[in-house]
Amino acid sequence: MESSSDDHVIPSQDHKTLLKSGALYQYLLETSVYPREPDAMKELRSITANHPLNGIATAADEAQFLSMLLKVMNAKKTMEIGVFTGYSLLATALALPDDGKIIAIDVNREFYELGRPVIQNAGVSHKIDFREGEALPILDELMKEEGKKGSFDFIYVDADKKNYINYHSRAVELVRVGGIVAYDNTLWYGSVVALPEETLPSFVMPFRDDVIEFNKSLAADHRVEICHLSISDGLTLCRRLS
Ligand SMILES: C[S@@+](CC[C@H](N)C(=O)[O-])C[C@H]1O[C@@H](n2cnc3c(N)ncnc32)[C@H](O)[C@@H]1O
Repeated sequence: MESSSDDHVIPSQDHKTLLKSGALYQYLLETSVYPREPDAMKELRSITANHPLNGIATAADEAQFLSMLLKVMNAKKTMEIGVFTGYSLLATALALPDDGKIIAIDVNREFYELGRPVIQNAGVSHKIDFREGEALPILDELMKEEGKKGSFDFIYVDADKKNYINYHSRAVELVRVGGIVAYDNTLWYGSVVALPEETLPSFVMPFRDDVIEFNKSLAADHRVEICHLSISDGLTLCRRLS
């Protein structure tokens, strides 16, 4: 989780964007995203909006993008690290075929419980295997399980930026060749280019250097092809090459 002590400074979902202006982002959401957003996702987004940490949820335009990506890839077996109330999880569950499977990991089950009734009503909860706990030991267990390495079509990482490098070393082995690992927040509220004299929000500072290091390490990782998108707070797609 980015922060819990700095709730008041976490930007709301409607402002989580690197676009030129809030008005342009609203235009995008109102023209192309909200009118096509499934009702269940609308409901979950509205429940999440009442949570003090609502700004950490995946943005609606990003979820729309992930949903199309999953369909284009014909993804069937996925993993999500960082569930919160389940907005991106629901987008994923709706995008997968009926026999699709998602391992969804979060240290906090209470967050997930807020969104679970909506996911259930949407008729997609049978696709979800929620695992409560720290992601790293869960990934290590998966690495030991027979048949898990190289088996995931898609892995979405949206938790605990300090561990992105550690998640990557596992995820790149768990995803199949040709599959995608997607990392959220890789432009970290623009702080990756902040000048030394700039004052950054207190929830941004502790992870800024980790995100910078992580981006460098991905650029140098020849096991994956990368595409660093400026959607939402930055999303890096890594396609496993070998
Ligand atoms: C940015 S939010 C996830 C947002 C979510 N993808 C959505 O669409 O709403 C990050 C989540 O990661 C969880 N988290 C933080 N550190 C974690 C860790 N070490 N292992 C597993 N989950 C963690 C938090 O509890 C929080 O729910």
